[in-house]
Amino acid sequence: MSLTLAGVRHTYAAGTAFATDALAGVDLSFEPGELVLVLGATGSGKSTLLRVAAGLLTPLSGSVEIDGRSVDGPLAVVEPGVGFVFQSPEMQLFAETVEADVRFGPLNQGLTEDEAHHRATRALEAVGLGAEEFGSRSPFTLSGGEARRAAIAGVLAMDPGYLLLDEPTAGLDVEGREAVREIVARSRRRAGVVVVTHDAEEFLGSADRVILLCAGRVTFDGPADELVQSPERFAEAGLKAPEMLLAQMLARDAGLKLARLSLDPAEAALLIARAREGAR
Ligand SMILES: Nc1ncnc2c1ncn2[C@@H]1O[C@H](COP(=O)(O)OP(=O)(O)OP(=O)(O)O)[C@@H](O)[C@H]1O
Ligand SMILES: [Mg+2]
Repeated sequence: MSLTLAGVRHTYAAGTAFATDALAGVDLSFEPGELVLVLGATGSGKSTLLRVAAGLLTPLSGSVEIDGRSVDGPLAVVEPGVGFVFQSPEMQLFAETVEADVRFGPLNQGLTEDEAHHRATRALEAVGLGAEEFGSRSPFTLSGGEARRAAIAGVLAMDPGYLLLDEPTAGLDVEGREAVREIVARSRRRAGVVVVTHDAEEFLGSADRVILLCAGRVTFDGPADELVQSPERFAEAGLKAPEMLLAQMLARDAGLKLARLSLDPAEAALLIARAREGAR
């Protein structure tokens, strides 16, 4: 069981003067229950990678398979398929009520009104928007953070086996970001979750695995802690390492022999204190 991309290459406007290589040969596999973080600078191919994985974009070459089945066409309608949360998904809310919006996906999958209603209620609860309170509201009266959550509920309601999210916390305030992080943490129990972001700090602490994309190529694919231990890889991919790691790199540059690097401020302070003791 996995979502697999093999030898995927994609060039936009291929064969024209505007040709742009977005993916230059990507081999990746995502497993159910895993939280994978895809990091990369602007234009590195993150959104293209997700669109290809969701079957929304056919790559120039290479293959995409979900649980052994070849993908041709959007997977959102296949059960259990791939759910894709676009960048700024709240822009796509369209129905008269929040509940109708969230119900749309399951109805499209062929579920009955009753089943779709049940799925919508569950999905709204899962994103912290009680169906009683929010179900009958117009999506256009929601705050930015609530609208983002309603849009994510619309995807969760389809019960996807793999959930792909493109910059899910972008543009949200602290509370909205926290709510989305919680949704992601909860969703990984039901699905394989892939989160694309250019803000490394947001999910690094909770990801099982991190993929670094640089100019359409995978430059790192491994456990989050392996990346934390070699933060120079961030700069190689055109990204800024988390502040927490930059501080510890400065301590190393100043001659302190840190046993390891940590994202946790308390642990990092302890590691620095120990290194100073050792230096005496
Ligand atoms: N529809 C398109 N037509 C032409 N070129 C495109 C199109 N979409 C993306 N590109 C180009 O493909 C490359 C990869 O774009 P992509 O959107 O995948 O990057 P990204 O990593 O998601 O960037 P960002 O962090 O800014 O969202 C970029 O050079 C981009 O300009
Ligand atoms: Mg993008």
